[in-house]
Amino acid sequence: AKQALQVAIDGPASAGKSTVAKLVAKRFGYIYVDTGAMYRAVTYWAMQQHVDLADEAAVITAMKSLKISFKPGEPDQLVFANQEDITAAIRQPDVTNNVSTIAALPQVRTILTEQQREMANAGGIVMDGRDIGTTVLPNAEVKIFLVASAAERAKRRYAENVKKGIDTPLAQLQAEIELRDHKDSTRKVSPLTQATDATLVDTTPMSIDEVVAAIAKIITKKQSSTI
Ligand code: CDP
Ligand code: CDP
Repeated sequence: AKQALQVAIDGPASAGKSTVAKLVAKRFGYIYVDTGAMYRAVTYWAMQQHVDLADEAAVITAMKSLKISFKPGEPDQLVFANQEDITAAIRQPDVTNNVSTIAALPQVRTILTEQQREMANAGGIVMDGRDIGTTVLPNAEVKIFLVASAAERAKRRYAENVKKGIDTPLAQLQAEIELRDHKDSTRKVSPLTQATDATLVDTTPMSIDEVVAAIAKIITKKQSSTI
């Protein structure tokens, strides 16, 4: 049998990580874990409880009553907070704009990192986020750093929003993406950086299918070299 590998996909907001990671996982029969959804779930949970998001101790206390889980779903994987389906709620702009604050809390990162490593024990896995190749799964056999220009990423987010009936100007989306990039890249704990052994894939001119094919090729090559 082909070896079940760990595949880490990192990169900035809207580079296409979740779209591509999910398709790659499907192709290889691997489990897909969206770690961004986990930071979003904590943000949503803390906001629901009116916790001060900068108060780390209060956020940690709130997390004690939160169990995050995933269930297969189309087109998006479903995300649960305990029994509550929060798939749509965690994509709302208020959560999106506060998630970097939560993601900068070291103890939150420690707790979520542990949960992510446990999920990866299952074997064949595709995990996407910001620090998977650097911190969560430093021994992952395949590491991809997915990027695209901020203008292209804003366009993609815009098109996605139009489908959902959300009307945010393109310029605002680009500004929000650039702000989140800045916060994610400059925070002290596990900032967004390319792992030294990651393969850089610039998706600016690429279709989703082209990106999936490029990553699949890297995985297949690795599978035959590690048998
Ligand atoms: O989908 P999008 O790129 O907008 O973001 P996401 O992947 O859902 O992640 C949301 C936020 O969670 C990011 O802006 C990061 O601040 C944080 N995050 C993180 O710090 N580490 C991860 N492994 C994944 C996400
Ligand atoms: O997970 P991340 O924030 O990195 O990106 P995403 O949520 O997968 O969103 C990327 C958006 O760009 C989706 O609407 C995709 O359909 C679209 N897209 C892409 O992901 N990759 C391309 N090469 C072209 C478009």
